Amino acid sequence: MCGIIGYIGEKKVSDVLVKGLSRLEYRGYDSAGIAVLNEDGISVFKEAGKLSQLKQMIHGVELTGHLGIAHTRWATHGEPSQRNAHPHTDCTETVAIVHNGIIENHEEIRASLIRQGHEFRSDTDSEVIAHLIEEYHVKKGMSLVQAVRVMLGQLEGSYALCAISQKDLNQFVAARNGSPLVVGVGRGENLVASDAPALLDHTRHVIFLDDHQMAVIKRDSVEIFDQHGKPVKHEVHRIDWDADEASKQGYDHFMLKEIEEQADMVERILRTRLRGELSEHLFDVLKFDQSEFNNVERIVIQGCGTSWHAALIGKFLFEALAGLPTEVDVSSEFRYRHLVYQPNTLVLSITQSGETIDTLMGVRRGKSQTYKTVSICNVLGSTIARESDGVIYTQAGPEIGVASTKAYLAQMTILILLSLYFGKTRNKISGSIYDEFVSELRTIPSKLKQVIQEKEKIREIALKYYEARDFLFLSRGINYPNAHEGALKIKEIGYIHATGHPAGEMKHGPIALIDEKMPVVCIAVRSSVYEKMISNIREVKARHGKVIAIATEGDSSIKSIVDDCVYIPACSEFLSPLLVAVPLQYLAYYVSVLRGNDVDQPRNLAKSVTVE
Ligand code: F6R
Repeated sequence: MCGIIGYIGEKKVSDVLVKGLSRLEYRGYDSAGIAVLNEDGISVFKEAGKLSQLKQMIHGVELTGHLGIAHTRWATHGEPSQRNAHPHTDCTETVAIVHNGIIENHEEIRASLIRQGHEFRSDTDSEVIAHLIEEYHVKKGMSLVQAVRVMLGQLEGSYALCAISQKDLNQFVAARNGSPLVVGVGRGENLVASDAPALLDHTRHVIFLDDHQMAVIKRDSVEIFDQHGKPVKHEVHRIDWDADEASKQGYDHFMLKEIEEQADMVERILRTRLRGELSEHLFDVLKFDQSEFNNVERIVIQGCGTSWHAALIGKFLFEALAGLPTEVDVSSEFRYRHLVYQPNTLVLSITQSGETIDTLMGVRRGKSQTYKTVSICNVLGSTIARESDGVIYTQAGPEIGVASTKAYLAQMTILILLSLYFGKTRNKISGSIYDEFVSELRTIPSKLKQVIQEKEKIREIALKYYEARDFLFLSRGINYPNAHEGALKIKEIGYIHATGHPAGEMKHGPIALIDEKMPVVCIAVRSSVYEKMISNIREVKARHGKVIAIATEGDSSIKSIVDDCVYIPACSEFLSPLLVAVPLQYLAYYVSVLRGNDVDQPRNLAKSVTVE
């Protein structure tokens, strides 16, 4: 959480930083700030609230200089306010820093610095970084690079940080441990940011810093060092996304754009993964022998939020199509619970950002049990991708809306492919069934386009219910995780209390909530549990609940028993979660818009959850 950026080069630094922050704002939007360095010193501008507040503040200010750092905050220590906004400076205002992460021993360091006469101006953990650098750089005369290195030796916790000094106009220093940091390698300019989209306006060539590495960034060079100051060889990667993918391209919101690009995205994923034998194009990274993967006897899938919902769908797929016993756990539970060792277990981690701390700890937990770890991940070079033994990238492109949409569909697509792969290698499905699935899978992009045509209908439904106080979502079988997903979306961007349930659980409690005001979204597509779902709908109607059904095209009978109905094209039960998810996304989207909420940056949330 929090986004940082640093720049040195010919361009007007304030413009580069503000644009970069706009690409990182999904990481936190409690406050924003920039520090620009020039011969007159360091100019710091920071403001509570979204980036637009900062933009207003610096509008018309002539900021010269070609070196600067910037930050967008998701508050951890200290309330969201101007005083707690980054950049932070030392007592002498020689040094400015921006930080993403948590300094766990900040209280101890702060107390000791106060005893030495330092004055603190914020309640943040991060400010100690500026004062520690002051101790070594300003008071003891060390270079900025040396001072940062010595300072890092005193920090416990996680950080991605950038530091600039008035005594050094030609470089800035960046370092990481536990929070992401990417260096952008340009021509006559270099940058650092928390995430690649902030760099793409300037370069596609990036270096992913590892933990305990420090980068010294000059206009014409980038040097990477380990914690002992030893130069480290680094690989320069090329990013295939372009800057446009991370912009709204005329849509009102990123979320809407991301919902509507899902058909093309699924088509692209299938094209890449199915361009020959699936086995050849399954992994992007595999650090162990593929035969070990094929011999897996149990899968444990872990993830958080929407990625956890994808994991729940994965369980249905692996068990039904590949006969593979599968457990699913929320990462924050998996990392702490008692694990019973079983050989040939694969820990499969699902994550859009690749930085979610609980999921990362789940990967490490899996490794500590000597299990092989494979991640399904969207962000290239992210921490989870790098720490896992194998990676399948979802290739969804940058997801900027805080509510996950296209990453979810991409995760499900990969899980379907993986279950088919296991089904085939374990002889649980025949070659012809496999071929049938693959050819049906190829029809999904056009079916997704058909679902998108239903959006006006869904907007009308949203108009009827957007003022509701609660929502219930019910489903059964492979679509039951979609009931959780529908509820999560309504909660996070609609700010409406909502819960998702397997419909069979209704009679065990939640049915007491039903009255004539309660909208109940019932996923009742044609499947092995369709009739059971219809009975559950009748139970809701008997108690005067308002039923919004998601049903299969051609099912005209359902219309007569529900209040509203959205149709999806007919498809195999196993592929239906891909189509069902889309009306749920639209419903939450329109409810959020009608309630006047901030769709892309809902309150209290951040896109990448790097704190516990
Ligand atoms: C919901 C949402 C979150 C994320 C969760 C995990 O719309 O976006 O619930 O799914 O924070 O994030 P990743 O997938 O990045 O690990």
